[in-house]
Amino acid sequence: MNLIDGKQIASALVDELTDKVASMEGSKPCIAFIRVGEDPASVSYVKSKNRTAEKIGIKPLLFTFDESITQDELFAQIDALNADDSVNGILIQSPLPAHLNEQDAFNRIHPDKDVDGFHVVNAGRVVQEDPDGFVSCTPAGIIEICRREGISLEGKHVVVLGRSLIVGKTFSLLAMQKGPHANATVTVCHSRTQNLKKITRQADVLVAAIGRPEMVTRDMIKEGAVVIDVGINRIEDATRKRGYRLVGDVNFDQAAPIASKITPVPGGVGPMTVALLMKNTVKAFELQNA
Ligand code: GUN
Repeated sequence: MNLIDGKQIASALVDELTDKVASMEGSKPCIAFIRVGEDPASVSYVKSKNRTAEKIGIKPLLFTFDESITQDELFAQIDALNADDSVNGILIQSPLPAHLNEQDAFNRIHPDKDVDGFHVVNAGRVVQEDPDGFVSCTPAGIIEICRREGISLEGKHVVVLGRSLIVGKTFSLLAMQKGPHANATVTVCHSRTQNLKKITRQADVLVAAIGRPEMVTRDMIKEGAVVIDVGINRIEDATRKRGYRLVGDVNFDQAAPIASKITPVPGGVGPMTVALLMKNTVKAFELQNA
């Protein structure tokens, strides 16, 4: 079967982290979640992160705020968590309401507690290939999938669809790094790319992170390519109880027969993102207690 079971890979990583935390003497790692507003997807993501932290033995703290919170109030909360030595990691769930500047909020977190890897210093540490930095969880999760599935990027043509800081840009930097599990030749495509299909068809590994439901079709994929689908799109579906279903950026039914390996949505990259957040939190705890 060519299906990559992200849920199972994430679960193996969570088990490893659970063992590691259980073997720690004294205090345990602690992560603080900040959520503003009631965006249903954000509520669900934070719940899932909270649950996974508890399972591992990481102490979760949840701070929720009304949409009307001011930037000063939000920053005061971040400052308090930065100053609290018992808190090792801080995560601000994205997206924030439009009146708050998201990047400013991410940059307010102390870089050593920035387990999401969104702080400007950690973005720079990725560029500099500094192993003590925090890499944002979705790109790190894709590298972890490749490592655990035996997918070598060495010398391969990796084509990344999407240039977001959270996924596309950061993943392209990781894939081109010098070292094991990287060394790829990388092309980044985006909404203004011309001759898109011509480029995606050259991909040995195609990573779709463009946020457009099922836009990657059969004709865009080379026979035998590895297809990594980062998209999580809700599309209306009256046949489902909740009124929607999740689809990726890849048309799975078209891609699966020609891909050598493919991640499903849900159950592919998504669970890895949560697992890597926990790995970063344990790393933050270790670095702060070294
Ligand atoms: N919203 C969607 N993905 C993410 C993520 O990885 N981290 C945070 N904080 N918010 C998100």
